[in-house]
Amino acid sequence: MFFTLVLSTLLTVMAHIPTVYAQPPSSVLSPKVFIISMFDPEGQIWHDNFIQSGLGNLSSRVITTPGLSMLYTRIFCTQTGTVCQLTVGEGEINSAVSMTALILSSRFNLTQTYFLLAGIAGVNPRYATIGSVALARYSVQVALQYEIDPRSLPGDWPTGYIPYGRTYPFEYPCITYGTEVFELSANLRDAAYNFTQRAKLVDADEPRRYRALYGSMGESYRMAVRPPSVVKCDGATSDVYYSGEKLARAFENTTALWTNGTGAYCMSAQEDNAILEVLVRFAIEGFVDFSRIIAMRTGSNFDRPPPSLSDWEHLTRADQNGFHIAIANLYNAGIEIVRGILDNWNCTFEKGVAPANYIGDIFGSLGGHPDFGFGSITGGRRLKSAAAAAAAAASKRDENDRGRYTLASVEMARRRQFGVKGGMKM
Ligand SMILES: *[C@@H]1O[C@H](CO)[C@@H](O)[C@H](O)[C@H]1NC(C)=O
Ligand SMILES: *[C@@H]1O[C@H](CO)[C@@H](O)[C@H](O)[C@H]1NC(C)=O
Ligand SMILES: *[C@@H]1O[C@H](CO)[C@@H](O)[C@H](O)[C@H]1NC(C)=O
Ligand SMILES: *[C@@H]1O[C@H](CO)[C@@H](O)[C@H](O)[C@H]1NC(C)=O
Ligand SMILES: *[C@@H]1O[C@H](CO)[C@@H](O)[C@H](O)[C@H]1NC(C)=O
Ligand SMILES: *[C@@H]1O[C@H](CO)[C@@H](O)[C@H](O)[C@H]1NC(C)=O
Repeated sequence: MFFTLVLSTLLTVMAHIPTVYAQPPSSVLSPKVFIISMFDPEGQIWHDNFIQSGLGNLSSRVITTPGLSMLYTRIFCTQTGTVCQLTVGEGEINSAVSMTALILSSRFNLTQTYFLLAGIAGVNPRYATIGSVALARYSVQVALQYEIDPRSLPGDWPTGYIPYGRTYPFEYPCITYGTEVFELSANLRDAAYNFTQRAKLVDADEPRRYRALYGSMGESYRMAVRPPSVVKCDGATSDVYYSGEKLARAFENTTALWTNGTGAYCMSAQEDNAILEVLVRFAIEGFVDFSRIIAMRTGSNFDRPPPSLSDWEHLTRADQNGFHIAIANLYNAGIEIVRGILDNWNCTFEKGVAPANYIGDIFGSLGGHPDFGFGSITGGRRLKSAAAAAAAAASKRDENDRGRYTLASVEMARRRQFGVKGGMKM
């Protein structure tokens, strides 16, 4: 009786809740492309220009969902929900949390969505220049290591970073957290690269002048002095905004080593591995498709100085003037990728571009065998979703499903092989 009264009162109250809180199934959007920006200028460039692409009004629909950054509380979509954009916030923590909030939002079905990670970056002058656009196959969390201040180390040490579980720099880490290296579909990267060939990249006099300072560094720095272009090379993630010759070289080495010689570090940023870890976890759940991710970065500043400047002068005193062309070229290259995916949706992108290389994390969570690191800890199997694993465990039909819960012991056993306990040598 009392319960009935409460219920009817509740229903009366609910009838007065504005429709914004009611979310009928028809409000679920299935974007074809989701643009992920890290901070305001990277998002703004899309909103300033998108209307001219003829692909819709990117500010038509504004969607809020719990858990986004307090700085960037809104998701924007075109009227039909075909293209959406979210600014996730800078750094590994902000980007991972916002991305998780997006994927768990009841407002989206992201199973067929292409994610275009589009941010500015520090650029390695051996592979590209300020204003250039890089499309990655690998993303490496280079600073996930022990660190000793080099002033406390012998002068001939190349770096103060030592991989987890190891004694010296430049070895393969034998303690893995799972976020060290992600590999994306090279076929999709190549398709995106082809679309960007239609893009007109902008340049300007001031960045041209700064670029020219690298001219005396020889043949291996030739890309630094050329005008902006689109290149295929890989990303490094670090929350610490590192800068300077020694760190840049060390992380270049780390990227090559941790990808077993395949990856080439050309862009440094603070988010990609964090976002990709979220995408792997929800690819396991079937919420997103890990073969539909494009990691694009544009060079805003060089990661190391030209010969005429110290590391400190390069970081703090010199104006490289790369910011504006990097932001502009995010859009200039990115819009051609968006257009390419939409134009070829029915015949190619709806069903997806099959990857020919390994895709996923260092654990092998999405199945297959990583071509870097110490091999799959899942026996090459794709992990079951949480729901499927729980159902199988409850019915005890499939012994293998319990594997999901013993992966930690596989990783710990691997550590012991190397004589490592906890985070250190035994
Ligand atoms: C795009 O949509 C927003 C929100 O409805 C509106 O304020 C804006 O004027 C539109 N832009 C154009 C160019 O139509
Ligand atoms: C999401 O969209 C896919 C593809 O259209 C569809 O197969 C799937 O059922 C949808 N998922 C949900 C939960 O609606
Ligand atoms: C990209 O273009 C090249 C050269 O035209 C072509 O050979 C290749 O098949 C294209 N790749 C994709 C993935 O579309
Ligand atoms: C990394 O640096 C070490 C030590 O200087 C060197 O022996 C090794 O060849 C480098 N590896 C790569 C992949 O650059
Ligand atoms: C793609 O398919 C949809 C639905 O079948 C159709 O409405 C649309 O016109 C097609 N687009 C192109 C470019 O063929
Ligand atoms: C990658 O390199 C490490 C260290 O050299 C090696 O132990 C590992 O087996 C290699 N992984 C693959 C997949 O080749």
